[in-house]
Amino acid sequence: MGWLNFICALCLATSVHADEMETWIQSARPKVLSKLSKNISPSGTAPGVVIASPSKHAPNYYFHWVRDASLTMGSFYAEATEAHLRIDKYLLDFLNFSRRNQLSGALGGLAEPRFNVDGTLTGDDWPRPQDDGPALRAAFFIELANRWLAEGKEDLVREKLYNGKADCVIKPDLEFVSHHWQRTSFDLWEELHGHHFFTRIAQYRALKDGAVLAERLGDPMAGGWYKKQAQSLEPEILRHWDESLGYLVSTLDRDAGVDYKFSNLDTSVILGILHSTKDGEFLSVTDDRVLSTANTITEMFRSIYEVNKKALRGVAIGRYPEDRYDGLVGSMATTTGNPWFLTTAALAELHYKVRKSFQKRGKISVTSRNLSFFSSLGLDESLTAGQQIFSHQTVFAKILQRLLQKGDDFLFRFAIHGSPELSFTEQFNRNTGAMQGATDLTWSYASFLTAVQAR
Ligand code: NOJ
Ligand code: NOJ
Repeated sequence: MGWLNFICALCLATSVHADEMETWIQSARPKVLSKLSKNISPSGTAPGVVIASPSKHAPNYYFHWVRDASLTMGSFYAEATEAHLRIDKYLLDFLNFSRRNQLSGALGGLAEPRFNVDGTLTGDDWPRPQDDGPALRAAFFIELANRWLAEGKEDLVREKLYNGKADCVIKPDLEFVSHHWQRTSFDLWEELHGHHFFTRIAQYRALKDGAVLAERLGDPMAGGWYKKQAQSLEPEILRHWDESLGYLVSTLDRDAGVDYKFSNLDTSVILGILHSTKDGEFLSVTDDRVLSTANTITEMFRSIYEVNKKALRGVAIGRYPEDRYDGLVGSMATTTGNPWFLTTAALAELHYKVRKSFQKRGKISVTSRNLSFFSSLGLDESLTAGQQIFSHQTVFAKILQRLLQKGDDFLFRFAIHGSPELSFTEQFNRNTGAMQGATDLTWSYASFLTAVQAR
């Protein structure tokens, strides 16, 4: 279905049917993948560079950010694999470039946030260190190592990815993470210094999977050490749950940076859950604390953005309520934040993943924490805390159907604020809904792909 038909379907019906959504998604996927790949090593940059955006001023995002690059390469790799495309050259280039980054002697060490497109240091006073970077980079390469091992490429894994010594790409990051996770650093939004949920859960994932890989490749001492650090992180991560607020707060122990994030409510928590947890394990998508956080975020953004008061399907989601970054200027005295594409896609992805998880388990437990999440699904019957719902019950099927629909509502929001040619910036204006900020943001494309992969 073309863009216009898709929009017309919206005009005629209050909700686009899931089948129509599916058709549109399948036609959009290759186009979005191609947009994303244009930002990988574009001409004039070193092989392996992932630019955050082609925008060179207001804002200048023409850099290789370690966080954006690691996350978007994950999405790119998953999508290319599903589409049966070979991207070996991209992977090897990214690997070699990442290795160069690690050896660059940067001020921020391995937690240097970003590099010039020729691989040199930026030498500016950018907020550093950002400790999520090495963890996300390690997590991507560990995933790749596991894939290559499954394909019988153990020699290549040992040569490039993990050899138990420092001259490979994974181990230096794991060593760094395992020795630095206790300290505070700048958050993923590059504004606030403290202990961040997003950073910590990324560190946890890298250490947990790193431990298994190290054991498997004959480095048991390291494996045991990474495992122990991951275990020590668990209680620290759970400290972010605030029972009286009813959500996982994003930052603890703030020691520098912006001072106006009073709510401590931030979609980065959801991003952390999506990127760094696994279904059925520690603090995964269906945990009642996560569902409560997701619902609080959604209702908060519903009430603060003008664009959410229009009779339009879905809810536009931003970073956090007090956000002042408008995507254009760095000084934020008079500006206000907006919804972002990647955070709106994150809520879609969460709903799809929650649905899959319930479906797999055949059981849903309603608790006092997640009750409001379920109430927001608009079911005919009201649920009560303590109730167990099993797969043979009609309400079970209804919940699954509403989760898909709600996920599609968010994805619809994502789509309708972009261009018909499927171009997406970083943000869209909170009043008008028009695109704003860095053009063709790599992470926006990646977030669409991970959402539809989850769907
Ligand atoms: C660019 C950062 O990356 C963004 O997150 C921040 O809000 C602005 N600079 C202002 O510091
Ligand atoms: C600003 C975002 O806050 C940050 O997370 C991102 O790394 C940079 N822009 C580059 O996209």
